[in-house]
Amino acid sequence: MLHKVVRYLNNPVLEKPAELITEFDTPELHQLIEDMFETMYASHGVGLAAPQIDISKRLTVIDISGGEKKEEPDDPEPEQIVLINPEVIGKEGKQTGEEGCLSIPGFREPVSRAKKATVRAQNVKGEWFEITGEDLLARAMQHEIDHLNGILFLSHLSSLKRDLIKRKIRKLQKAGEWE
Ligand code: NI
Repeated sequence: MLHKVVRYLNNPVLEKPAELITEFDTPELHQLIEDMFETMYASHGVGLAAPQIDISKRLTVIDISGGEKKEEPDDPEPEQIVLINPEVIGKEGKQTGEEGCLSIPGFREPVSRAKKATVRAQNVKGEWFEITGEDLLARAMQHEIDHLNGILFLSHLSSLKRDLIKRKIRKLQKAGEWE
C-alpha cells in the first residue's frame, strides 16, 4: 500500500526522535516494510524512514539503485536494505555532495557527510547485523538514521540557507502548493 509522504513543516513527526521497535517478524512489520519500499520507489527516492509516512518508529529502507536492480535476481549485491533500530557505529573520511529529501521536495543542497559509515541494526527478525557503506550508500544511511533522530538535512546547512529554504516553504504552504 502506498503511503503519503509527510512534508517538512506540515507535521512535527519529522522533527522528533522515533521510538524503538520491540516486536519483530510480525505480519504488520513485514507489511510496513513492503509498503515503505513501494512508497519509496513510487517517489523515486533511494531511502525512506518511517517518520516520513507519519509512523514514529526506528525503521528505514534504502535502495540506492532506486529499484533498478530488484528486477535482476542474479545480482549478488543486496540492493534492498532494511535497518531497524540502527545506529552509526563508525565513520571515516568526508564527502560533500548534493542531497535531497522526499519530505523536502524541490530543494537540493550540498551536505558534508562521512565518506564511509558502519551501521549496526536489527533485521526484520530482530537479529543484529553490521553493514558498511561508502559514498552514496554511506550518505543514504546517515541521512535516514538522522530522520529517526528527528534531524533533517537542513540541520547540516548554514542557518542562513536553512532560513531561506524555510521562508520559501512557508510561501508554498500559503499558496497551497506544499501538501
Ligand atoms: Ni530524507
